[in-house]
Amino acid sequence: MMGRLEIILGDITKQTADAIVNAANCSLLGGGGVDGAIHRAAGPELLKECRTLNGCETGKAKITKGYRLPAKYVIHTPGPIWHGGSRGEDGLLESCYRSCLELALENNCKTVDFPSISTGVYHFPLERAAKIAVASILAFLSEHVEIERVRMVCFDERTKAAYQRALDDFEVSA
Ligand code: APR
Repeated sequence: MMGRLEIILGDITKQTADAIVNAANCSLLGGGGVDGAIHRAAGPELLKECRTLNGCETGKAKITKGYRLPAKYVIHTPGPIWHGGSRGEDGLLESCYRSCLELALENNCKTVDFPSISTGVYHFPLERAAKIAVASILAFLSEHVEIERVRMVCFDERTKAAYQRALDDFEVSA
């Protein structure tokens, strides 16, 4: 089960997976960070389709085509903005990962790539987010063999190290 979650360094817009996840905002109309990179790489048709979705609640997810991206689908999920941890941020982040994987399953995706949701502009503490993400993904993988591979695509070494640590710690404790 553990082998099905990989931590890599890279640019998610270049990854070949059935679906890549976008760390979006509730409008789903694009932004900076990975959201901006995905929209730039996918081309204008992505925004056109996003306009039809009528936004998305934090912790939930919506799916679109990938257009010019190598990935077939983009799964958009607004992560929680960090407010100190007392506004249910942990639960909402866990829900982002689960909602995306549920949607991937519904669309017969076997491979799903995630960015580090909420740890950029939304300021969610990195180590804390990595633990939540790894636990949520591994729990889902243990219940759904149809998903063959999930990757955390980390944009920098610090992020990659945090997710690798979270995965190593999980394996030790499991
Ligand atoms: N590939 C993979 N990861 C990336 C890429 C990329 N091309 N570009 C940025 N990242 C990483 C960041 O380095 C960070 O680790 O994605 C992670 C999430 O950071 P943000 O993109 O800032 O996302 P988030 O913290 O969830 O904030 C979302 O930012 O861009 C806006 O519209 C977005 O309002 C929303 C908010």
